[in-house]
Amino acid sequence: TWTPDSFVETTVAELKEKLGNDKVVLGLSGGVDSTVAATLISKAIGKNLYCIFVNNGLLRKNEFENVLDQYKHMGLNVKGVDASARFLKELAGESDPEGKRKIIGRVFIEVFDDEAHEIQDVSWLAQGTIYPDVIESVSATGGPSATIKSHHNVGGLPDFMKLKIVEPLNTLFKDEVRRVGRSMGIDEELLGRHPFPGPGLGIRILGDITAEKVRMLQEVDHIFVQGLKDDGLYDKVWQAGAMLLPVNSVGVMGDERTYEKAVVLRAVESTDGMTADWVNLPYEFLQKTSNKIINGVKGVNRVVYDISSKPPATIEWE
Ligand code: XMP
Repeated sequence: TWTPDSFVETTVAELKEKLGNDKVVLGLSGGVDSTVAATLISKAIGKNLYCIFVNNGLLRKNEFENVLDQYKHMGLNVKGVDASARFLKELAGESDPEGKRKIIGRVFIEVFDDEAHEIQDVSWLAQGTIYPDVIESVSATGGPSATIKSHHNVGGLPDFMKLKIVEPLNTLFKDEVRRVGRSMGIDEELLGRHPFPGPGLGIRILGDITAEKVRMLQEVDHIFVQGLKDDGLYDKVWQAGAMLLPVNSVGVMGDERTYEKAVVLRAVESTDGMTADWVNLPYEFLQKTSNKIINGVKGVNRVVYDISSKPPATIEWE
């Protein structure tokens, strides 16, 4: 019978055998899959696993620093690369959702490729691909767990993609990945994280992206998600986040009229992201959160809650 402990034991032995003294490079995202994959491979080959964690500038508030710190404490050989400025510059003026995804995917590959070149004689690329991703890439739908490969469209392959591929989780479902992570002692908070899209806040800022919009949305998102945690609601929700709308709405402050941004809060229940229902969050929670956002985030004067299910409304707004 399958147990997480036996999976870890067999997989680590297999990885030792397969990888020997070879060097392996892996992109960490802060998510469950890449973290569990890295931990497994690190158990097998230690410092010969080179992890790269890229800050695309579209992560949650303080996420890059916090998660990088956590990875270091876990003993992973990880390099944090802050490429925020480069992503923002390349994204300037682009407001088409697919256009933004393409830019973010391309720049990620360029940054990752540059970093992979810094490692001498690397021969493997490790990925946190799980079983549902394998199915999905066969049916070529893209979507939730678009791997590095599917981001890539035209032109010559970056060098790291010519590496041999190792994917230790590609027979597991998400809940099994969590159990494997738990059996290796990975922090519960990390294992229980909501899914977060690769393009990050880039597809939650509707329209074009600026540093100021990123700052605003990071604040809003932080108030919302931290509030869910504080009130014991986080684990009851499959995914939650906020969107910044490309419209200004009128408000009043004292005797003045304001003309500022409107934001959307979205929280859904789901099992796989293919269908989803909006979550009936307590009114008191929504009320408290809305006040905190409007009083605390400069430039935002209106908060709305998304009560649309998927289908037809997707989880993300872009
Ligand atoms: P939608 O918006 O299609 O989202 O209902 C379903 C799930 O997929 C995530 N998502 C993405 N993940 N790259 C990703 O890595 C993307 O471009 C992307 N678009 C959507 C979304 O967060 C949700 O979990």
